[in-house]
This record gives sequence, structure tokens and C-alpha cells, in this order.
Amino acid sequence: SWRCCRKDRAVAGSTEAIPAAAPPGPPLWLLAELTYRCPLHCVFCYNPTDYTRFQPELSTREWVDVLTQARALGAAQLGFSGGEPLLRDDLEELVAEAHRLGYYTNLITSGVGLTERRARALKQAGLDHVQLSFQDSTRELNDFLTHTRTFELKKRVAELIKAHDWPMVLNCVLHKHNLPHVDKIIEMALALGAEYLELANTQYYGWALVNREQLLPTRAELEAAEAVVKRYREQIGNRCRLLFVVPDYFEQRPKACMNGWGKVFLSIAPDGTAMPCHNAGNLPGLQLPNVRSQPLREIWRDSGAFNAFRGHDWMQEPCRSCDEKAKDFGGCRCQAYLMSGDAAAADPVCSKSPQHEQVVNIVRRAESATSSWAPLVFRNDQESHRMRAAAVDIE
Ligand code: FES
Repeated sequence: SWRCCRKDRAVAGSTEAIPAAAPPGPPLWLLAELTYRCPLHCVFCYNPTDYTRFQPELSTREWVDVLTQARALGAAQLGFSGGEPLLRDDLEELVAEAHRLGYYTNLITSGVGLTERRARALKQAGLDHVQLSFQDSTRELNDFLTHTRTFELKKRVAELIKAHDWPMVLNCVLHKHNLPHVDKIIEMALALGAEYLELANTQYYGWALVNREQLLPTRAELEAAEAVVKRYREQIGNRCRLLFVVPDYFEQRPKACMNGWGKVFLSIAPDGTAMPCHNAGNLPGLQLPNVRSQPLREIWRDSGAFNAFRGHDWMQEPCRSCDEKAKDFGGCRCQAYLMSGDAAAADPVCSKSPQHEQVVNIVRRAESATSSWAPLVFRNDQESHRMRAAAVDIE
């Protein structure tokens, strides 16, 4: 049938343009991953493990062109991310251009490189919002998990963000090692004057997947942290908004990943690869288009990659006849592939998935894990080259 044909062609890697059933809406949320270079070595980084292949980086002129094209398509929210976006010395220029184009701009940073001089320049350029990552409330764990000495620096950067009157979101990725500190993390956010604290439980992709055995908490650890967050919410009201993102492994229904494939989210990797999600590069046969060789409008509307899982036509059972498919879109395509080997399968997080038992077993193993943990793998170029070589060998 045309449906099968369409899916097979897309997943088998055709670069041919495939007409979507109805033209998609605008890519409201544009993520500009300016560089995958990063001074930190976080063990739960969501960047692809083979990030070193996304080179060479787009030039300033090429990024301005991407921003202009995306804005013409209707993009409104723009995240400057990475890696560490402050490693690009044209960040101020890109922010100024984005501001001129009418974007709401957000800098997603580790804080490394945000000096008083650059903060002033970014403010002048029109930067709207800053999201600063912390890894823990203690210097020891923050510095251990990033393999850097950055804890004190991050605190100074938080003060700088406040001094320049930006709304501040602190982000802390949660896992087994820092979940017991959640009260201290909240206290730290309050002391630093954060407007929002995003307590994002680790999602297992990229480097976090490599380290899953060491990072995945038990259900009891998770529930205890959630109870603490609830208590603080009642105490502090709107003084600081606490967002607690539950890890999907502990759920019965999958997350609506990316709000649906090719629906509102468009990510551009440092070398111009356009992706419907951060991990799309790992899906086999999905040939990702590049802004260096194709106009963004064509990429967003017509490319095989962006249409591969758009809408519902690609779905198999149990998703196809599920009355929740419009809510969760069958979950995450990358997770479906990682666990079932089929990117068009139901996300195994869903209790209706034939592979759901795998997720249950992973969670069960976390309950019984003791000292058999393998050492943590820190994100760095050498490891990335090694994993890239290993992936090529398997192919
Ligand atoms: Fe790729 Fe969810 S991370 S679709």
C-alpha cells in the first residue's frame, strides 16, 4: 500500500521528497546547536555519542541564513544550545540577528565563558532568557559528574544573570546520585533567586544511555524526591516554579516526544544537519538533510526524514488503533528503535507495547543493582571517536 511504501522508503533512507498528507504547521521551536564542543564532560549529556562527526561547524553567515529561513517558516522560540554555545565568539552577533528577526531567544549554557563583558554584550544584543545548568547542590558531585571545577563559577554566573535582569531558569538533571539532594538543590535555587527550577530526570539517550546502569534510580528514590518537591511547592508558592520531569521508564504511557515528529520542533546540528529530534542521527537509514545543500522550507515540509513519522499513517499496532495516539503520538521513535530495533514500533515505555517487559526489567535491575556497576563514561572527544569507530565496525 502507499502507506507501507511511504514508511519503507523513508526509513530505508531515500532522500527523495515525499509529499506529506497535509502541509505541516510551522516549526515553532528552533534549537540551534551552535557547537558540540564543550568544556564539561557530563556523564548524562544528551548529545550524540558520535558528536565529533558533526563537523565542520556552520559559519556565522550560514547560521544567520538558517535563522532567517526558519523565521520565515514561522519559528518563534529560539534556543542557542550545544555543547557550550558560549564557545562560539559570534554568539552575540547571532543573538542580535535573532532579536532583529523577532525571535524570543534563550541561551542554554553551562555558564562557562559567561563573563561580565559577554553578559553585557548579550544583553545589548537583546537576549531574552538564560537557562543555566547545575549538576548538584554540592561542589563535590557537581565537579565529579562534569569532570571539571565549575561549581563556584556557576554560582558567580547565576549572580551575573540576576544582575542583568534576565529571568533565570536553573536546570539540574536528576539521577540516582543527586536525587537524595533534591531539597538542597531547591534551597540553592531559592538562594540564587531563580524564577524556575527545572528538575529534569535523566532521559536515557546519548551519553546517559551509555551510563544508564549507574544513573537509573529506584522507584523509591524517585518517589521520595517527588514528595520533597511537592512539599516545597506548597511552601514556596510562586517564588520559584519547580518543574519535576518524571523519567518515562517509570510510566505506563510514553511521553509525547518532541510533541510529535516534525510537528513543532526543528533542531539544527553544528554542521547544518537538520533533525526532527536530538537523536534522529541514530536511526538507521534515516538520511538527514543539511541546510548547506537544501532550503529549510523544503527540508521541513518535504524531506523524507521529517515526514517519516509525521501524523499517524506510519503507525503499526497497537498504536494505529489506540485512542491515545493523538495525545502521545506513539511515544519516542528513538526509544522504540533502541529497545525494539524498529523505529516505527510503539515506544516500549507504553504498557500496550509488546516490548514493555524490557523497560520493566531495566527498572527491576536498578532495584537490585549493587557493586557490579561498570565505571562511568565521561563525555569527551576521545570516547566519542572510539564509539564512532565501534559503530562503523558494526555497520
Ligand atoms: Fe528522537 Fe524521541 S528522542 S523521537
